[in-house]
Amino acid sequence: MTDKTGVPETVPLEDIDLSDPDAFVERVPYEWFRTLRQEAPVCFNPEPDGPGFWAVTRYEDIREVHRHWDIYSSEVGGTSLEDLEPDQIEARKSMIDLDPPRHDEIRGLIKSRFAPRAVKEWENQVRRVTQEVLDLALPRGEFDFVEQISSEIPMQVFAEILGVPQEERRYIIELGDRILGGQDPEYAHTFEDDAHRLLPFSSPAAQEMFEFGRKIAEERRHDQRNDIITQLAFGGLTQREYDVNFVLLATAGNETTRHTITHGLLALLEHPEQLERLRQDPSLHSSAAEEMLRWATPVHHFRRTTTCDTELAGTEIPAGAKVTTWFTSGNYDETVFEDPGTFDIGREPSRHVGHMTFGPGGKHFCLGAHLARLEVRVAFEELLKRTVDLELAGPPERLRSNFFNGIKRLPVRVKA
Ligand code: HEM
Repeated sequence: MTDKTGVPETVPLEDIDLSDPDAFVERVPYEWFRTLRQEAPVCFNPEPDGPGFWAVTRYEDIREVHRHWDIYSSEVGGTSLEDLEPDQIEARKSMIDLDPPRHDEIRGLIKSRFAPRAVKEWENQVRRVTQEVLDLALPRGEFDFVEQISSEIPMQVFAEILGVPQEERRYIIELGDRILGGQDPEYAHTFEDDAHRLLPFSSPAAQEMFEFGRKIAEERRHDQRNDIITQLAFGGLTQREYDVNFVLLATAGNETTRHTITHGLLALLEHPEQLERLRQDPSLHSSAAEEMLRWATPVHHFRRTTTCDTELAGTEIPAGAKVTTWFTSGNYDETVFEDPGTFDIGREPSRHVGHMTFGPGGKHFCLGAHLARLEVRVAFEELLKRTVDLELAGPPERLRSNFFNGIKRLPVRVKA
């Protein structure tokens, strides 16, 4: 059986290897996830250079893993597939790689800043930053949407919220780009020498980002404000805790939001009837942003490590095992989402449960979820207001990664 595009609906289980980033270059292998959900929802995936990991692919089972943080720890082995040495885990541990109680203490310092009411107050700033980005990009007529628009908005918003002066924004944006990257050879930049192995992403740019974070904290020492940096810098964290959490905040909303906006535009261009529907009915912008987030699922998975022998959906998992939860698969689980392969900007959350693009809930649910939603909605509200015509000017180029569902370049032609 194949779907409308000729892609097989399922594949033999032995053909599936989620550790292979090449499998994600052409497109997301949705048929792999469909096969896993149907035939092996908790499946052991060997790794060429590691101990292998369990892949959890059903919506409800993913929720189960994230609910039981005491069994599925974020702290024991970190949250990425990479196997790090204990000293690396210790040195790089930001809130995302911590279990309670320390996780809750650090998150508690700043969580009110990201609550819906607080984020709503940023709407005017987000809109102004977005308008400035579009004002620069749209007159070009033909350009790379990623470079000019979708990568600019999240970092400009972040710099705005942190109060980074205009002249330093380019620098912090470039640092963010240098820190991330990962498996794609175009951006490969990790350094396995001793000087860098204790830094987030083994990247020397992380050291520069630490220094930048310290400089802003120092400025607040003399000029304490009611803002995120002041709360983080003077909330009783060690220097290392401040550094790694600053880097987390500076990077977590960067590629993720970028890829959502890029995939969102691509989805609208590939589904012109949905683009037209959105132009005709702007009240759909909020649900369109939700559908773009589900459709894109920019983070494919996160990892946990079992603290004891356990059982999930009838499968036994030993203590000390790597367990990955695949949000991409949960977001296309046909037992939860009706017709998940259809891009529908008016989609109602099914059975009152939404997508799991920000995680399925639980302790580590994305702190920036409301901010990201706001950015995506405002980006399309402003983009559609200012353009009468939008079209692809070349094929999209995808990122080689089994962690980010990324698009590196999206050439577009616009008529303002
Ligand atoms: C479309 C954009 C975004 C996506 C897809 C995304 C996705 C995620 C996911 C999947 C997690 C882990 C959830 C879990 O383990 O249950 C996470 C955690 C996190 N995200 Fe986001 N994120 C986005 C934007 C942002 C933004 C704008 C920020 C703001 C600074 C942010 C800050 C964080 C932080 C601090 C955590 C760690 C929370 C914790 O461990 O308690 N994210 N995000």
